[in-house]
Amino acid sequence: MALRNTVALLVGLVALFHTWGAWAIVEVNMEDKVEVSIKETAQITCMYTSDEGSGGMVIEWFYVTRSGDKQRIYHQDPVSNTVDKGTPYMDRINVSTATGVVVLTISDVQVEDEREFTCRIKGLTDGSGEGRTKLRVFATPERPTIEAVETGVSVDKFEPSKIGTCEVKNGYPRPNVTWYRDNMPLLSSPGDTIIEFRTTTESNGLLSVVSELSRKVVKEDKNAKFYCEVNYFVPGATQMTESAPITITIYYPSTEVYIWVESPKGKIKEGDVVELRCTGNGNDPSALLSIKHTRSGETWETDTAQINATRINSGEYECQIVDTESFESLTNTTEVFVNYLDPAVVVPEQPAMVLQGKDVMATCNAVSSLQTETTWFKDGEEISKGHTLILTNATFDTSGTYTCVVSVTELEDMQTNGTLIVHVQGPPQIRKDRTVIETVNREVDLKCHVRGYPVPTIIWTAGGKVSKGFQKVTENGVESVLKVQVTSDMTAVCNASNEYGSDTSTFNIKAIAHTTTQATSTTTTTTISNPSVKTETAKPPKKVKKESNGVIIAVVIICLLLLAVLGSVLYFLYKKGKICGRSGKQDLTKSNKDNIVVEMKSDNTEEAILLGVNGEKQPQSHQ
Ligand SMILES: *[C@@H]1O[C@H](CO)[C@@H](O)[C@H](O)[C@H]1NC(C)=O
Ligand SMILES: *[C@@H]1O[C@H](CO)[C@@H](O)[C@H](O)[C@H]1NC(C)=O
Ligand SMILES: *[C@@H]1O[C@H](CO)[C@@H](O)[C@H](O)[C@H]1NC(C)=O
Ligand SMILES: *[C@@H]1O[C@H](CO)[C@@H](O)[C@H](O)[C@H]1NC(C)=O
Ligand SMILES: *[C@@H]1O[C@H](CO)[C@@H](O)[C@H](O)[C@H]1NC(C)=O
Ligand SMILES: *[C@@H]1O[C@H](CO)[C@@H](O)[C@H](O)[C@H]1NC(C)=O
Ligand SMILES: *[C@@H]1O[C@H](CO)[C@@H](O)[C@H](O)[C@H]1NC(C)=O
Repeated sequence: MALRNTVALLVGLVALFHTWGAWAIVEVNMEDKVEVSIKETAQITCMYTSDEGSGGMVIEWFYVTRSGDKQRIYHQDPVSNTVDKGTPYMDRINVSTATGVVVLTISDVQVEDEREFTCRIKGLTDGSGEGRTKLRVFATPERPTIEAVETGVSVDKFEPSKIGTCEVKNGYPRPNVTWYRDNMPLLSSPGDTIIEFRTTTESNGLLSVVSELSRKVVKEDKNAKFYCEVNYFVPGATQMTESAPITITIYYPSTEVYIWVESPKGKIKEGDVVELRCTGNGNDPSALLSIKHTRSGETWETDTAQINATRINSGEYECQIVDTESFESLTNTTEVFVNYLDPAVVVPEQPAMVLQGKDVMATCNAVSSLQTETTWFKDGEEISKGHTLILTNATFDTSGTYTCVVSVTELEDMQTNGTLIVHVQGPPQIRKDRTVIETVNREVDLKCHVRGYPVPTIIWTAGGKVSKGFQKVTENGVESVLKVQVTSDMTAVCNASNEYGSDTSTFNIKAIAHTTTQATSTTTTTTISNPSVKTETAKPPKKVKKESNGVIIAVVIICLLLLAVLGSVLYFLYKKGKICGRSGKQDLTKSNKDNIVVEMKSDNTEEAILLGVNGEKQPQSHQ
């Protein structure tokens, strides 16, 4: 400071000598300006030289009012020094003096203190000198704040639109605000960029600036960063600070429009829910989007269409975007193809008939937009691949239900199926597993499994009686069950016939005495026997001990009577018949408790036929 003052003083001296010449008696020298930050302390130095020395000098300090008048604030003479009352400085100044130097100290400098201060030195005899210094005050502004417009800005506007405002508060002197876009300063340019600012003087004299940027936006502004820079002075320098950046929403019309299938990805099939989306490459919230199925005219007034796909939904879909400002529209299209798979069709007509030993051929396919493949199943087992199924040399095992599954190779879970029912035509075939039955029971169930088509008719002959039994049609034939009352050894014949022939099976039933010792019954077991041989060999079983019960006796008597009546009736009806009730009486006395189902089969068809013939002659019990 001292050095600077000295340099200034020397410069001043040169100037003074040049202007006033050597006849001046008191020479006063001061700096042009003193810079100080607000609230700090300012020192204004006044240097003088005098022929009289520093002793009897009168020193006065003034400030210059706005109107140019001088207002004294300090007075000093050889006997006293006074701070003038009633000035803004009466509490804030001190003056210190040394030889040739007077320093005015102003504390707590305010904005109003930015004015000129005058130092006047008067010699006691004659002559005086005066100097002046401008006090400059600086206040660092607060950090600038920035606000972007909240609504989007459209590129369609003819006039510049407001982009944002930047405010910087409490600076002095007035700070400068500069707008930047992506590091490039923005300059006002008519019809394109407008930067306006407003300065407000705060009560403390500080200045606040609000700057507003308006601009004719372009699409590229959507990514631009706008910010403001503030330049302000500090003592001896300038400084700069920046606001945070802002971005703005730019509304601009589309130049292209896109439509696509959002889901499902890949091939579409019937039953899928197809979602179509449509969008433009602009940013225009007021633009109107719609999707239209060209063929049907069906229209969705949104950017999304959901379709429950069927094949009629195939075809071209068009998206249209209409700009509500210009009413210009853009369209684009996409193709949708809905794949389909119709129900499986099986040829020939159902059911398919085939003669035993012959071949049958069937096909199974389904109309589809895609390649299909067929797999044939029977009873859950895969038996063949391919649309055509050939069954050669049909047997009754060939009969049954075939399922064909038609699937699309390219698309999973796209399949359909059909069935083929095959009937193998041929004479009945009875399954003959067991033809000899031994039983201690009064009642047995005889089962006759027959294969053959057309469904064979079953006629049972047992105990001289003809019956149909209980029948159930199976996949490749029929199953018949006959309940027989066993009173003595007997035979039963199952005769199955259809238009291709007939088959019979004879059951030999051995009635085993229901004695207390079961062991004896089991010893009488016979192996498969020739029915014709064994017919008359069966002996009536021993009588079972009766319980001495009157009721039972009475029942037996009644039964005997009924049998007698029945026997005679039957005798008359079948004069030639050989019905014999000889064993019936005995069997009736037995108590009949458990039924056991027994199946009987014979091994040989011819044998069975013979048996059937013989059976009529055999002693029968009623059934
Ligand atoms: C003036 O000087 C006196 C004495 O040194 C001091 O107490 C006072 O605070 C000073 N006033 C200012 C405004 O500097
Ligand atoms: C502010 O702008 C004015 C006018 O362009 C200029 O004179 C002044 O030096 C600037 N202030 C700052 C701090 O840069
Ligand atoms: C239509 O869409 C295609 C594919 O998305 C695109 O390449 C093309 O530019 C679009 N056309 C228009 C006029 O938007
Ligand atoms: C699609 O099908 C679902 C259920 O079947 C139904 O709720 C929906 O409304 C249908 N959507 C259309 C566009 O037909
Ligand atoms: C057909 O099947 C029968 C019985 O299984 C067999 O004897 C015959 O040889 C077969 N015929 C042909 C042509 O395969
Ligand atoms: C055949 O289709 C029906 C109905 O779609 C399905 O329930 C069944 O499981 C299918 N059968 C086979 C063998 O795929
Ligand atoms: C079985 O029944 C068919 C048709 O009624 C008949 O032609 C055939 O002779 C019978 N067979 C026997 C062994 O009784």
